[in-house]
Amino acid sequence: MVEIPKHSMTPMDRYCVFGNPIAHSKSPLIHAEFASLTQQQLSYDKQLVAEDQFPQAVAEFRRQGGQGANVTLPFKQQAFELCDGLTDRARLSGAVNTLYWQGDQLWGDNTDGEGLVRDLLRNGVELKGCRILLIGAGGAVRGVIPSLFEQQPQSIVVANRTQAKAETLAQHFAELGDISSCAMDEIDGAFDLIINGTSASLSSTALPVNADVIQRAKCCYDMAYGSEPTVFQQQAKQLGVSKSLDGLGMLIQQAAVSFERWRGVTPDPQPVYDLIKRQL
Ligand code: ATR
Repeated sequence: MVEIPKHSMTPMDRYCVFGNPIAHSKSPLIHAEFASLTQQQLSYDKQLVAEDQFPQAVAEFRRQGGQGANVTLPFKQQAFELCDGLTDRARLSGAVNTLYWQGDQLWGDNTDGEGLVRDLLRNGVELKGCRILLIGAGGAVRGVIPSLFEQQPQSIVVANRTQAKAETLAQHFAELGDISSCAMDEIDGAFDLIINGTSASLSSTALPVNADVIQRAKCCYDMAYGSEPTVFQQQAKQLGVSKSLDGLGMLIQQAAVSFERWRGVTPDPQPVYDLIKRQL
């Protein structure tokens, strides 16, 4: 065995994910797999950050040589405010999940929407000309609207339990395309794609959406995922919707978009998807 002299070791590029809580995060595993698949030398850690310490944590990470980071709950809006520069989609969505530096300038991107779009396209869902129903009006939905509009859907309807929040979102994104809002129990009309962006799946709650509306969809997509199909996926399946997908693909794909931004290479999402699916 030959010992490698210390001076010849190059320090690895460092990345991390900031959040609170963070123990559950799959990002370190996903990025380690991407690095291995693309033969990139890097480290990627989780960082638990106190709610009032986010700017300090980012600055300290940079001081220690950090190259880029992901940001998860509850810091996506703080990250947005902290950045010196923003990509268009991050600016429009008001939230940042990916940080990188250009010189001394901290930049923010939001890869959630692009992750969702890539996963939908990969699963054969046609978005151009599509009539989309987006259920929910929280951060998850807000983050994906700009990227969905880039695909030139015919229209987006945002439906939410609290209608006023859906209305606020529709007004905010009105310049991007045909977008309107309604209350969740008043959804009417035909949609090709229904996306559940509420946190109802996390509490296994069924959504009070008309069976007719679900039945007519070509695809139902739940941004949540788990070891079993979500309640929304089960609703869709029982009503005969031929394609019902969960959000694991979106999770892997949003990470792939971040990785691409940092490293300039595109990892194949499929082996990582298979690996995580087996572990759920
Ligand atoms: P996130 O950042 O994950 O989007 P959020 O901003 O707290 O989280 O938003 C949660 C979304 O899920 C909201 O649209 C919320 O509806 P309200 O705005 O009416 O609160 C929705 N939601 C959560 N639990 C729900 C439930 N049981 N039924 C329907 N909608 C629910």
